[in-house]
Amino acid sequence: MSTHNKPIRKAIFPVAGLGTRFLPATKSMPKEMLPINDKPLIQHVVEEAREAGIEEFIFVTGRQKEMLEEHFDFQPELEATLEARGKDDMLAKVRDSEMPAGSLFLTRQPKPLGLGHAIWCAKKLIGDEPFAVLLPDVLIKGEQGCLRQMMGVYDEHGGNVIAVEDVPREDTNKYGIVDTGGDTGKIAAVKGLVEKPKPEDAPSTSSVVGRYILQPEVFDHLAAFETGAGGEIQLTDAMAKLIDVQPFHTLNFDGKSYDCGSRLGFITANIIFGMADDQIGKDVKAIIKNIASTL
Ligand code: UTP
Repeated sequence: MSTHNKPIRKAIFPVAGLGTRFLPATKSMPKEMLPINDKPLIQHVVEEAREAGIEEFIFVTGRQKEMLEEHFDFQPELEATLEARGKDDMLAKVRDSEMPAGSLFLTRQPKPLGLGHAIWCAKKLIGDEPFAVLLPDVLIKGEQGCLRQMMGVYDEHGGNVIAVEDVPREDTNKYGIVDTGGDTGKIAAVKGLVEKPKPEDAPSTSSVVGRYILQPEVFDHLAAFETGAGGEIQLTDAMAKLIDVQPFHTLNFDGKSYDCGSRLGFITANIIFGMADDQIGKDVKAIIKNIASTL
């Protein structure tokens, strides 16, 4: 195990997108506030980052996204009311959602020019150290959080680490796809990255799922503001430039991802997280069985 890698203390959460796939729900409410079971998406990913040892949480935010920072704030009236009513379990949940003083940082992306541009907006807050990126609309369910698993790969190999998952070949044009030169192991060295390739051109069926550990040199490439697939400034394109220069590995993590930015992924995640809930899980399963029997 290498002891020379700089620790990953900071994580970026890009939340400045328009969430067009979820309109009209996201017309005035941030997509990242959509709840999966009893927590908004953003809280799920913040908790994943916390479990992995992240100390500084950087939101790249935009217009009409103030609700996101409010969610992590101290709510004195609410806490006093819950306390007076003896609702200790709810009070504990509310307190759990607060960010400790000095750990939440905000920067703005004035226009949603793409994920790569959103990450570039956090450049000054990151400085010269490696960092994590978590996309809040992707939830990952597994025994251990995905970012924590990735930290293990980083400790071992250093450099850049991206979480990947297998997708059907006909769907490669929806994702960033990794070329590992045919290596299908749990951890593989990255040889190339392509954003949304056609099925016939895709170098593999291994897709990037929205969890990254990156070196600060990626900002040098993002600063060129080159547009890629969909006319957006893509993070994938900037990452691709680091491949031959720094260690770069994939982790085929234990667990499953849910794209909660799509309606189908959102509904599936609510079923899965609902079934796994300590309090309502049994009832959710009974309801699903009941519904299934009528289909
Ligand atoms: P998505 O592409 O899934 O989000 O980006 P979107 O653009 O908001 O959604 P659709 O496709 O229109 O429905 C993944 C994450 O990156 C953020 C989004 O807020 C989301 O959390 N993002 C995306 C930015 O912060 N800025 C951007 O320019 C693009």
